[in-house]
Amino acid sequence: MGLLDRFESVTRATQEFDANGVNPFGVAWDDVLSQTEAMWRGRKVVLAGTHNYLGLTFSEDCIEAGVTALRQRGTGTTGSRIANGTYPDHFALEAQLATWFDKRVCMVFTTGFQANLGVVATLGGPDDVLLIDSDSHASIYDAVKLSSAKILRFRHNDMKDLEHRLERLEGTPGNRIIVAEGIYSMLGDRAPLAEMIAIKKRFGAYLILDEAHSVGVLGPSGRGLAEELGLLDDVDVLTGTFSKSFGTVGGFCVSSLPDFEVMRLVCRPYMFAASLPPAVIASTSAAVRALQTTPALRLRLWRNIPVLYNGLRAAGFAVGPHEGPIVAVAAGKGRDLAVHTWNQLLEAGFYVNLALSPATPGGISLLRCSVSAAHTVEQLQGLVDALTRIAQGNGLLPAPLAVAAG
Ligand SMILES: Cc1ncc(COP(=O)(O)O)c(C=O)c1O
Repeated sequence: MGLLDRFESVTRATQEFDANGVNPFGVAWDDVLSQTEAMWRGRKVVLAGTHNYLGLTFSEDCIEAGVTALRQRGTGTTGSRIANGTYPDHFALEAQLATWFDKRVCMVFTTGFQANLGVVATLGGPDDVLLIDSDSHASIYDAVKLSSAKILRFRHNDMKDLEHRLERLEGTPGNRIIVAEGIYSMLGDRAPLAEMIAIKKRFGAYLILDEAHSVGVLGPSGRGLAEELGLLDDVDVLTGTFSKSFGTVGGFCVSSLPDFEVMRLVCRPYMFAASLPPAVIASTSAAVRALQTTPALRLRLWRNIPVLYNGLRAAGFAVGPHEGPIVAVAAGKGRDLAVHTWNQLLEAGFYVNLALSPATPGGISLLRCSVSAAHTVEQLQGLVDALTRIAQGNGLLPAPLAVAAG
């Protein structure tokens, strides 16, 4: 048997994508022009699937900070912080984030994926139980595989199920660690955080909250869902990414747990991966300042979100249950119609994400759109109009499947 034979169905699907149009998972841009536009096969395409929530990828301040750091400190760190030492900029960014979140410690990782991988896998010890939401991101699923804790998966956002599982653990040793996300990446729906924290307190559990999609988006100062609900103090470890609202790459966690600093010497995805290059750290630091000092960015995002969410809903699409920067549209149970619709949308000049079963809740196919503060209302209205016209033409509308938590 060949080493890759077990991926035969994926290879076959890719061949089918190529034979029938464009592979939704392999789009190659001729060029990227701005936060919201790219060139594809000689044509301009609106980017509505890139999670560039605040449009900071082309911010003059972020670019200038990166260029200056690149010239001053070089292209890369060529190793991890435990082996190669820490640049002043890494500590400065960590201090900036720790202060902003009002937590004692911040650790910066090379990706958001590694932040979850490191935090969840390291904190879940041999006697412990990790309770994860069934719609968790791949980084959380991989983290629990890596940890030595017992794993329990509760139904998506189902607090009764979480409660039951905790009840059944009573009398057994070890810490209970709940892992959840502020905004879930597939449907864009939010965790029932107030209920979850009440349960966490009742059972003496800990909470790790991934705010990848909610930092920069929710909360009076943009710190995420926990801030929005006034619950930041009740989150034991908050993780996040720089690849969405901050417009760069990397990840972080913040925590006030006693002795959290020890994580720098026990968390392998932090210890054994090269640290972020100075230019990325400097651009990220400028992005944090932008989030702190320019609430207009968040206001522009929230001006844009209803244009897409309400526009698609009014057109008859089933969208996720909460308004937010991810607007997921149900595109049928099977794969073919969704892939075809996605292709037609790209041909019409709009790029969104396609998500297929088994990655999606409930096994439905999803066209996942993401909104940016940098979008114009015309771009978003254009997406609503194009998707509506295409869906009416190919039978996706009327009668979409409901988008339900899976
Ligand atoms: C919920 C969630 N957590 C973590 C990550 C990983 O972040 P990154 O892509 O920055 O590594 C993602 C990425 O899409 C995500 O959606």
